[in-house]
Amino acid sequence: MTASASAADNSSSLMEKIVALTKRRGFIFQSSELYGGINGAWDYGPMGVLLKRNVKDAWWRAMVHDREDVVGLDSAILMHPMVWKASGHVDGFSDPMIDCKTCKKRFRADDMDGAICGQKPSKSPLNCGLAQLTEPRNFNLMFETFLGPISDSSAKTFLRPETAQGIFANFANVISTTRVKVPFGIAQVGKSFRNEINPRNFTFRSREFEQMEMEFFCVPGTDDDWFKKWVEIRKRWYTELGLSDGKLRLREHDKLAHYSKATTDIEYLFPFGWGELEGIANRTDFDLRQHQRGIRTVGKWDGGDLSAVELAAEDEDYQKGKLSYFDDEKKQRYIPYVIEPAAGADRATLAFLCDAYAEDSAPDAKGNVETRVVLRLHPRLAPIKAAILPLMRKDGHPERARKIYDDLKRRFFVDYDESAAIGKRYRRQDEIGTPLCITVDYDTIKDGTVTVRDRDTMQQIRVSEDKLRDLIEEKLGM
Ligand code: GAP
Repeated sequence: MTASASAADNSSSLMEKIVALTKRRGFIFQSSELYGGINGAWDYGPMGVLLKRNVKDAWWRAMVHDREDVVGLDSAILMHPMVWKASGHVDGFSDPMIDCKTCKKRFRADDMDGAICGQKPSKSPLNCGLAQLTEPRNFNLMFETFLGPISDSSAKTFLRPETAQGIFANFANVISTTRVKVPFGIAQVGKSFRNEINPRNFTFRSREFEQMEMEFFCVPGTDDDWFKKWVEIRKRWYTELGLSDGKLRLREHDKLAHYSKATTDIEYLFPFGWGELEGIANRTDFDLRQHQRGIRTVGKWDGGDLSAVELAAEDEDYQKGKLSYFDDEKKQRYIPYVIEPAAGADRATLAFLCDAYAEDSAPDAKGNVETRVVLRLHPRLAPIKAAILPLMRKDGHPERARKIYDDLKRRFFVDYDESAAIGKRYRRQDEIGTPLCITVDYDTIKDGTVTVRDRDTMQQIRVSEDKLRDLIEEKLGM
């Protein structure tokens, strides 16, 4: 076996182990698994929902709470269909597809080398010998739906493929209802939907996923500087939450999307290879100008097929349009430029899981050394901050442990577990990434001290019960 083949084998077995752990410990399940599952949709179980919520909270804290120049938003998933015409999604949000008339499979035209034949999975459709391939045809990635009971073109709209357009559509509302001044940002977290042709790599490419996006409106001419700043700020966010610096890289796009003047992706080295976590784009004034055209078009739209509609031309005086901004200092009206850091909550969660996964060795109850699986998650991301474990199910241990649990759970997400041998309970907490295990034993009853075991070092220290809150806060960096 060559070195690269064995590296690929190791990576795929690492990914299999991570997927198995996420299922075993209640992080991630396939959607509708009971019915055989559906492709490209995932359910977050009791541990997964906590982890992903902590990722989204950490993003919200860094992007909204800790900044004076960013406000939040939660816009609807369903929007006026003209939004998607103006944004360019109706006409341009598509992938070129090739169908095979023999096996009825559909492939992305730009990924034919990586495609797998439907009849001979060991081969590519390019050389399976039976394929009858069509010419590439564009396939729009937006999910269609209908507003109300009548399914005609005037009622047709789409599940949003990005949260960004809800922000642009509320730009004027935010300006008129808050005291924001350019430069400022509007941030939101929410579901997006894309009918991906090949959902793959676990949650990495899904059809339903969550985005964490921020549109930062700035004075034209300052956009290049803001772009650089946001690339740095966003990369630092991942490393501060524990992602290995050596597994992160920046990738500048040389082929730019129609709306972008510059784009840099933050990529992470997943076990299956480098993958985009977040894209930071300089979207210029493209979107606000497009929506000014959209609102000039909507009154004339007869409800017919949107792809046949031509957007109204831009007003000559567009700089003074409905989505312009009056700058008090400059005494001038203009359309701000936009820097967009657009991240995926599911991809970030997956990256944190992959980076945290580790195997080391630890002695079992009989002193035999065995392999230990541990999630070395940053304590702020860990689903459970501490587990309170009575050593015995008698002699007052459960009562004392419950008292500690009741006290700590007012402040932190903690767990109480008296179900098995102590070693087994430690392993379970290690596998879900709990930073601290607090054990109540005979000494606790005598002198009010407990054992605190550190997930990463497995070192144990003895601490007075009344110091536990401070200890957990210190661990969380609060
Ligand atoms: N508003 C710009 C925008 O949506 P994007 O690069 O298409 O840009 C931003 O998406 C982020 O959303 C990506 O970096 C990724 O983290 C996440 N994302 C996009 N498509 C996804 C999918 N099919 N599954 C999971 N996450 C996805």
